[in-house]
Amino acid sequence: MKDRKNSALIIGASRGIGFELARQYREDKWDVIGTARDEAGLARLAAIGAKTIKLDVTTADAPALLQAGIAGARLDLAIYCAGIVGPRTQKLEAPTEAEFEAVMRINVLATMTLAPLAAPALARSAGKLAVISSRMGSIGVRSATTSWLYRTSKAALNSALKDMSLVLGPQGVTCVTLHPGWVRTDMGGAGADIDVATSVRGIRAALAALTPDRNGSFLNYDGSEIPW
Ligand SMILES: NC(=O)c1ccc[n+]([C@@H]2O[C@H](COP(=O)([O-])OP(=O)(O)OC[C@H]3O[C@@H](n4cnc5c(N)ncnc54)[C@H](OP(=O)(O)O)[C@@H]3O)[C@@H](O)[C@H]2O)c1
Repeated sequence: MKDRKNSALIIGASRGIGFELARQYREDKWDVIGTARDEAGLARLAAIGAKTIKLDVTTADAPALLQAGIAGARLDLAIYCAGIVGPRTQKLEAPTEAEFEAVMRINVLATMTLAPLAAPALARSAGKLAVISSRMGSIGVRSATTSWLYRTSKAALNSALKDMSLVLGPQGVTCVTLHPGWVRTDMGGAGADIDVATSVRGIRAALAALTPDRNGSFLNYDGSEIPW
């Protein structure tokens, strides 16, 4: 048996799926470090007993703030959850440069910058690194074109996660990209399929069952595999 509590880092934990991840892991007595970019998000995390790091994933100081916040830690799990949907287009409406910049920066560039920084803390305890992607990023199951910039960003995120798995897997860090379901959050909207507690229970079970031989997988919140 381990002589210490399990510990998780959740990047983008102010609300929605990220906050519910923090809440459920705290309820399960894990040590949780959650990031948020405003005081309201930080206060919500502090109220459930999480440690907090104040950072906006897009700013130049984010890597240093994250590294300082997890210095010397042992992590069993790190989850990159921050994301935006961008323009809710139907067909092939071109994104503006500003829309492209914002979506790709938060969903892709910030993940590529920040997620690998958790690797040393994860490697100390054969931990797991997850990014919250979307089935909308799958090319293999693609049959609709709504929000194509968001789809593009999640396909790119999946590619980045695969590369992380190739580098970090041999260091003992099991990497996975996860679809949380269509979830009733600010992003998913009131008409989505499942509530956030159901999504996060599924994600937690899928992560608990994740073994190193599945390093580099793209998984649904029910643990089943999604085609790339
Ligand atoms: N909901 C769904 O149906 C669904 C489906 C598939 C995938 N996903 C993915 O799941 C993840 C979480 O989505 P959600 O539904 O929980 O969305 P949400 O309720 O809109 O929450 C988005 C989260 O991302 C954070 N964030 C956005 N920009 C940020 C920035 N620049 N710096 C730091 N944090 C930032 C937000 O923080 P603030 O509070 O500071 O804005 C918030 O914590 C996203 O990656 C999303 O693409 C969601």
